[in-house]
Amino acid sequence: EIRQWDGPTQEVVSPIFVQTPAGLVRKVIGSYPLPVDDNEALDALDAAVRAFDSGRGAWPTMSVTDRIECMERFVGKMMEQKKAVVNLLMWEIGKTLADSIKEFDRTVQYIYDTIDAFKDVDRAGSRFRIEEGIIGQIRRSPLGVVLCMGPFNYPLNETYTTLIPAILMGNTVLFKPPKHGTLLHHPLLDAFRTSFPKGVVNTVYGRGATVVPTLMKSGKINVLALIGSSRVADSLKKMHPKSNRLRAVLSLDAKNAAIILPDADIELTVKECMLGAMSFNGQRCTALKILWVHRSVADVFLQRMGEELNKLKPGMPWSQGAQVTPLPEPGKPAYLDACLRDAEAKGARIMNEGGGTTVESFVFPALVYPVKDGMKLYREEQFGPVVPVVPFDDIDEPIAYIIDADHGQQVSIFGSESEPLARLIDPLVNQVSRVNINAQCQRGPDTFPFTGRKDSAEGTLSVEDALRSFSIRTVVATKD
Ligand code: G3H
Repeated sequence: EIRQWDGPTQEVVSPIFVQTPAGLVRKVIGSYPLPVDDNEALDALDAAVRAFDSGRGAWPTMSVTDRIECMERFVGKMMEQKKAVVNLLMWEIGKTLADSIKEFDRTVQYIYDTIDAFKDVDRAGSRFRIEEGIIGQIRRSPLGVVLCMGPFNYPLNETYTTLIPAILMGNTVLFKPPKHGTLLHHPLLDAFRTSFPKGVVNTVYGRGATVVPTLMKSGKINVLALIGSSRVADSLKKMHPKSNRLRAVLSLDAKNAAIILPDADIELTVKECMLGAMSFNGQRCTALKILWVHRSVADVFLQRMGEELNKLKPGMPWSQGAQVTPLPEPGKPAYLDACLRDAEAKGARIMNEGGGTTVESFVFPALVYPVKDGMKLYREEQFGPVVPVVPFDDIDEPIAYIIDADHGQQVSIFGSESEPLARLIDPLVNQVSRVNINAQCQRGPDTFPFTGRKDSAEGTLSVEDALRSFSIRTVVATKD
């Protein structure tokens, strides 16, 4: 069903092609309101500012119990929309049915876990302390207006990962749905409207390139919560007229590497690298985006990786067992092709038959070897179904690569002997924010801290850390 809006609209096209008299085209699956100018976004901002009312609003002063009640009401209504949201996840971003259900269920669980953690954060935070003759009631207080923006790859989960804790802590929010992944928010807008006081949650539409700068330049955004690109985060932060007053909670670019040692269990390594590099066609910030393999096991590893890649089944998101699905970003197949041509021109080969083949918005996964410095795939975050593999002789080579990188999110190391593995942990965890041993990189469990070093993140997410990120510790002090 295509929802009708009054006024100008932006059509949403699916990554899924359909036959029309004009030939094969991306299917139009709906539309969303397109503001005539940026004033509409400023109206939404004003609504959030008014609802916060410099900390005097009904929401930031509401009791913890009442805020939880609103959130529970919301999540109850959210669950009634599961079918609609899952369906739109498949059509809008090409995520498989199983992964779309997982994204929805994980988000619901995240909300319940956040509510639980909120009760604790508040208990721990509102304890009285008496020191030096002063009684202090230590609290956690909201920060103001939070602008939340999530990415297309987890348009629901990663929007709510910041939006839910921001609201619970008493802030008011503006959220801008990702360009690919807007429609799936619509079935939930009513649940927000009927669960929270007016102005607590506000949706912003429009072209990100103009609307978001307008919001930032207003100086009225207190927290920028973005899961997206480092470049965008950097430029938005600079637009705030008083950037020293802006708090940023950011999860950004990453180029996570795997290091495969000579004694790695190849079957286990292949299994984890397949999950790490290929889940949702490699479109995860946590995906394994470059594999460093010791030269002594490179042949056997490449052979087995190639075999497993070629077993992946292309199909529509709703088809049983589909693993390779259409890519939502229209420019992505051409970009990946350019990366592959660049690697080939500089001496690498595509190791699996048919790797890199593009049909409509499908790109068949490609295993590329030997990748080296100077190729696009060496440093760029391909964010797609391409697996660059670099051979190494000395462990200092991948370590130097990680030290020199602009990103510092995660690393996976594969090996059997515990001592060589253990020796790598400290040097690596002092460069990235999570080291995975004999396992793929991933964000979950969502109670684990999720952050990154260098250009990969600012602040920390996780059920508990997010509550802290969207609040400040305050104290009400009286003399004993
Ligand atoms: O895109 C970044 C996501 O946070 C990755 O989450 O590791 O659970 O797929 P995931």
